[in-house]
Amino acid sequence: MKSLALSFILASLISMPVWADDSGGDIHYDTPVIGVLFSHSSHVDEAGLDCDSCHDDLFEMEALAVQKQPDFNMLALSEGRYCGACHDGEMAFSSSSRCASCHEGAIGYRRALGLGEQVSSH
Ligand code: HEC
Ligand code: HEC
Ligand code: HEC
Repeated sequence: MKSLALSFILASLISMPVWADDSGGDIHYDTPVIGVLFSHSSHVDEAGLDCDSCHDDLFEMEALAVQKQPDFNMLALSEGRYCGACHDGEMAFSSSSRCASCHEGAIGYRRALGLGEQVSSH
């Protein structure tokens, strides 16, 4: 009985949505353009970065907070701010290359958020 209860608890933990994860999960930006993905798992698990390489100097621990900055755009990235602090072609691939690596686009954004794939034409 005890192990049955335990596996039930484990199963409910595993099925928690990614954004309930305290290591940050996936963040899907929609301003100024829809469909930019930031993945904690790519940066922490795969690239092996520490939390403090981004928090709190570059980013707050609050999804989408940075979108309130009017300069959260490609120009700022190319000048070494935000993602561009690392995506400079040395530490990580340049923000002026591989557009589709960061830009999942409107369809990918809608799919990831479970909104279906229909994209409004206006
Ligand atoms: C490569 C950069 C980077 C690294 C490394 C990183 N984060 Fe983040 N984290 C971000 C970004 C970007 C955001 C979103 C900030 C925003 O949108 O304003 C974020 C947001 C968060 C959030 C808020 C999520 C939410 O849904 O509100 C938490 C919690 C968080 N990070 C925890 C961590 C922890 C814990 C680590 C280390 C294990 C870590 N982060 C490592 C970039 C990073
Ligand atoms: C502290 C440094 C740092 C910051 C800040 C950072 N990245 Fe990265 N990122 C890396 C490194 C290192 C890699 C892995 C090496 C590479 O792919 O060039 C990476 C890889 C990626 C990848 C490829 C992931 C994969 O699985 O192939 C994407 C997409 C990406 N970053 C997007 C972003 C976005 C969007 C932001 C800003 C919200 C951001 N990164 C901020 C360091 C950073
Ligand atoms: C390292 C990740 C990354 C790469 C690579 C990247 N972008 Fe972006 N892009 C962003 C982020 C972050 C934003 C701001 C958030 C948003 O608009 O959702 C953004 C916003 C934009 C915007 C709207 C804001 C502006 O500056 O006009 C355009 C247009 C854009 N990107 C085009 C491109 C093109 C074209 C490429 C390839 C040459 C590219 N991006 C490569 C991360 C990236």
